[in-house]
Amino acid sequence: MRFLMKLAIILGTRPEIIKMAPIIRECEKRKMDYFVLHTGQHYSKELDEQIFLDLELPKPKYNLGVGSQPYRKQVGIMTREIEKIFEKELPNLVLVQGDTISVLAGALAAKKLNIKVGHHEAGLRSHDTSMLEEVNRVIVDHISDFLFTPTPDALKNLHQEGKEPSRIFFTGNTIVDALNQNIEIARNKSKILEKLGLRSKSYILVTAHRAENVDKPEKLKDIINGLSLIYKEFAIPLVFPIHPRTLARMKENNIESPKGLFLLEPVGFLDFLILEQNAKLVITDSGGVQEECFVLKVPCVTIRENTERPETIEYGMNILAGTNPDKMLLAAKEMFSKSINPGSNGWENPFGDGKAAERILDILMEKTK
Ligand code: UD1
Ligand code: UDP
Repeated sequence: MRFLMKLAIILGTRPEIIKMAPIIRECEKRKMDYFVLHTGQHYSKELDEQIFLDLELPKPKYNLGVGSQPYRKQVGIMTREIEKIFEKELPNLVLVQGDTISVLAGALAAKKLNIKVGHHEAGLRSHDTSMLEEVNRVIVDHISDFLFTPTPDALKNLHQEGKEPSRIFFTGNTIVDALNQNIEIARNKSKILEKLGLRSKSYILVTAHRAENVDKPEKLKDIINGLSLIYKEFAIPLVFPIHPRTLARMKENNIESPKGLFLLEPVGFLDFLILEQNAKLVITDSGGVQEECFVLKVPCVTIRENTERPETIEYGMNILAGTNPDKMLLAAKEMFSKSINPGSNGWENPFGDGKAAERILDILMEKTK
């Protein structure tokens, strides 16, 4: 079969690998003409190779190996190197996902060469432009040809900003596809609870990596103090698979891990799903983790002042605590014993029905007919 579409899938960080995985699987299933370009923004085994292994994804055709660099350098190198690959491969469509530097660079390189861009997870807004991710989202949405928007709220944002309706496609988020495809596999394969000696619903799961939270020593100290207060209140372990950025900042600032807080290396996706599903409570500043808690119906405390995932708050399954230790404790108290069972009320998952990847590829194929 001859394809009119040649698709370049750009990814660079852990969440992009996870959310692009259902699309890559679908490309394989449809035997499409596509290739994966990894920028190498994430390169540590736990954030990169382990996730590919867990999701049984083919190795990317290209890995630029850009690694950690100051922002301007990272954007510059990535954009230049991605362009070189595009000039060689001549894709007529580029797909990016989310809000990272890799996403921005992929979209900029494509537009420079007049290649059409699809943006999955379009329309998310925290309205906080002090976060680089918000700036990336807004720019990429502005220059993309196809806006694949995951939730009714994100759809509304795009309409309110006056984006042409012909560019907007409501698809759901591939995170639901990824959860549906992997939760059973995770239950069968993961031994993480046994390995860590944890019982279901008798620990709290923590993640934190936002630059705004961990790069400021005072904020990072507040977060650690907040976690310590939470341990004193509930006396159950806090398990923290720690992002390398956060670990580096703790070491640089001589911040010790307090009693009750157990740091471990980032775990693979399957292990993480099991840790999430069995947690009594999750405390996080991650975007993807807020979504996963919502889908898995695990109460979540978000240690940020805002979120681009407001549905999680509206449904009462997530709460914004900021990073003040007392406020973190209050929020944890509010969510700790919250029984979450929205499914009994004819509840529809606003993040999608698990068919987002199929929809995105159907639309792209239709548009390149
Ligand atoms: C990036 C994204 C963020 C996303 C997160 C997912 C941007 C601006 N940030 O943040 O939106 O939520 O990925 O996890 O694109 N490091 C390693 N090993 C790695 C990667 C990073 O040790 O494989 C360390 C390095 O010290 C590096 C630091 O983490 O300087 C930050 O990495 P970077 O990719 O810039 O940002 P993240 O915090 O990972
Ligand atoms: N995750 C993982 N191992 C971990 C922590 C998180 O596999 O130790 C997964 C998690 O299931 C989610 C994604 O990583 O799908 C979230 O990535 P991250 O928090 O790094 O980025 P964000 O979503 O905030 O951009």
